[in-house]
Amino acid sequence: MDLIAEINRLRREKNAVIMAHYYQRSEIQDIADYIGDSLALAQYAAKTDADIIVMCGVHFMGETAKILSPGKKVLVPDAEAGCSLADSCPADEFAKFIGQHPGHTVISYVNTTAAVKALTDVVVTSTNARKIVESFPADEKIIFGPDYNLGNYINGVTGRNMLLWHGGCHVHERFSAEQILKLKQEHPEALVLAHPECKKPVLLVADFVGSTAAILKYAGESDCQTFIVATESGILHQMQLQYPNKTFIAAPPSDMGCACNECDFMRLNTIEKLYACLRDETPEVLVDPAVAERAVKPILRMLELSK
Ligand code: 13P
Ligand code: SF4
Repeated sequence: MDLIAEINRLRREKNAVIMAHYYQRSEIQDIADYIGDSLALAQYAAKTDADIIVMCGVHFMGETAKILSPGKKVLVPDAEAGCSLADSCPADEFAKFIGQHPGHTVISYVNTTAAVKALTDVVVTSTNARKIVESFPADEKIIFGPDYNLGNYINGVTGRNMLLWHGGCHVHERFSAEQILKLKQEHPEALVLAHPECKKPVLLVADFVGSTAAILKYAGESDCQTFIVATESGILHQMQLQYPNKTFIAAPPSDMGCACNECDFMRLNTIEKLYACLRDETPEVLVDPAVAERAVKPILRMLELSK
């Protein structure tokens, strides 16, 4: 069977939109109607007039789409596509942490469950975190969770002293400043681009720190021809497509020999599963309406502050 032709037929017949994060397998990026970082995917999910959203990403991205578009059917190709960062922040423990620090505004990274968003005052992504933190007065007491590295980076660039939750992403935490510097010796002309979920030593050797969308934009606008990229390696497909004359090198993780700069959750989605999910309209992402009612407020606040 021609899977691509079948997916095309089904999305037309069902008025479905296929959305994909930059960390998806190349063949999924190539078939998507819309590709973006986590902010762009949320913005698009809020405005699409499709009846079905197929979110090729991880579960929290599907949840965010469902919360923003409760009337639409939101599908994910693989229900097991979770996120180690979201898992590092259980809602009950986060609630306890908030309770121990009264009087704080709670800012949560979008890589969280709906239950954590329901405890939050404003959601951020790596694209807008700095702007949103800076929209609060300098003396605002803030709790930031769950990504410690992103929070620590934002504290550094804004001079804030947010209280940080100690969560992290297993993919970004594996990059090693030492390995990147070794690679740079072979490519002294290369610029290092890093996602703020990487640990501080990696961010310190980076020439540019930004979200996936920001990294992509920077690579296009820079006069430099070669880049070492410290984020999930799926982004390299889009970089190479958009800037075919430039060279992109995936930063090696510390334990060489594994493909650990790939997010095993993101990679669970395949073309076969995408086809089956469009055909059978399952797995569907559902969010408890009482949780969604609270979680939608900090997401909408983020969308408003991102304009
Ligand atoms: P972006 O906000 O850059 O899309 O990052 C999402 C993510 O999961 C990073 O690991
Ligand atoms: Fe989560 Fe990390 Fe995978 Fe992004 S790369 S989805 S933060 S586990």
